[in-house]
Amino acid sequence: MSEACVAAVVLAAGLGTRMKSNLPKVMHPVCGKPMLGHVLDLLDDLGIDRRVVVSGPGMDAVAALAEAAGAAVAVQVDRLGTAHAVLAAKPALEGFTGDILVAFGDTPLVRAETVAAALDLRKGADAPAVVVLGFDEDEPEAYGRLILDDDGNLLRIVEAKDATPDELAVTLCNSGVMLIDGGVAWRLLSAIGNANAKGEYYLTDVVGLARAEGRTCAVVEGASEEFLGVNSRADLALVEAIAQDRLRARALAQGVTMTDPHTVYFSADTQLGRDVTIEPFVVFGPGVVVDDDVTIKAFCHFENARVARGATLGPYARLRPGADVGVGAHIGNFVEIKKSIVEDGAKVNHLTYIGDARVGAGANIGAGTITCNYDGFNKSLTDIGKGAFIGSNTSLVAPVKVGDGAIVGAGSVVTKDVPAEALAVTRAPQKVVEGWAARFRERMRALKSKKS
Ligand code: UD1
Ligand code: CA
Repeated sequence: MSEACVAAVVLAAGLGTRMKSNLPKVMHPVCGKPMLGHVLDLLDDLGIDRRVVVSGPGMDAVAALAEAAGAAVAVQVDRLGTAHAVLAAKPALEGFTGDILVAFGDTPLVRAETVAAALDLRKGADAPAVVVLGFDEDEPEAYGRLILDDDGNLLRIVEAKDATPDELAVTLCNSGVMLIDGGVAWRLLSAIGNANAKGEYYLTDVVGLARAEGRTCAVVEGASEEFLGVNSRADLALVEAIAQDRLRARALAQGVTMTDPHTVYFSADTQLGRDVTIEPFVVFGPGVVVDDDVTIKAFCHFENARVARGATLGPYARLRPGADVGVGAHIGNFVEIKKSIVEDGAKVNHLTYIGDARVGAGANIGAGTITCNYDGFNKSLTDIGKGAFIGSNTSLVAPVKVGDGAIVGAGSVVTKDVPAEALAVTRAPQKVVEGWAARFRERMRALKSKKS
């Protein structure tokens, strides 16, 4: 889809006071991605590349995200209402004559299909001046109400605070998303006043003004969950739950098996191959890519990590940023991998920390092995060759290299490089004293009975 004749204005200047946060509201993440990022993705899906994000003063993070997505940033200094906010985007759209799509940065669940239906309707025979996305809600509370005539044409939008009891009984609500004919948009928006209950310049008044000029206006209905706007942390949790369900459904549809999908949490950018199996209670942070035929056992946590085909992870495995697990490798319980490559077929099965390291193909890392990668000042590298065997409870003090096929004896503290095919053992030799334990107990019992 390409919509060259539509520009989007994304409103994101609101303070979000009820979030009680230092972070601008639209930067709060849903499935690991800021809400504003979801709205910009929606515009990508629709092929709308001309965008302006209206931010508040000093919202640097909002501006940075917008610019990274190729959007212009307009700053609305005084927040005088939604119409005033859209007008703040006008200078950034100087010379643009196409339609204006208004979206809210705090409403991240809108589906591309619903907006596409509005774009289609605008191109239809009677070319409505405004197409508003609406939804039906049993308890519409503070939402603006969409007032229709008997033929289903949109007559006007009335804000809850300005509505009569009859109007309040209407359950068809304004989502806030609307598409406005570019030929009349700026003129009508500039004509909007603020004589209403809130003393704000309401974007919603654009409908009544278009009607007064004899133009038709229309509604496209979507599901109410699409238009959940986030005003509080409770709303954010609700939106997160819906977005997680969508990601679970997408994973299942793409050929992922999940024993109990509701206990698995994804990020918006999680990539999963076919025939991946995910047991209960697994969390995917941002930036995780999992190839085909991988098995993820229960209670794993991953972020910014890659897993190649056929690998097995967990239970209780943790992949931190930069973990790169090779084809058919095994990462077992209570194993943490950070910024390390575990090459094809290597096994790191129990109670281990691998950080800033390479584990060569087919190497076997014994239980309790630790790469000592940090001396309090610097991070250093550990390089383990292919087919090497690291005995249990080994500390590898980086920087250090273990050559291909070398063996490190259990309990070693390795501080010097080990050549290929060599053995390194650093533990003290074992001493055996025959009968010592029995004599010790005898002596202790005797001492104790003397005291009592
Ligand atoms: C708005 C609609 C209402 C609709 C509801 C859907 C108006 C007048 N009302 O009401 O009909 O049912 O959304 O959620 O449009 N913003 C700015 N600058 C401003 C004011 C708002 O950027 O000066 C942004 C906010 O950050 C927010 C969005 O615009 O993202 C909506 O503003 P908000 O004040 O929440 O409008 P509602 O009262 O919810
Ligand atoms: Ca709102």
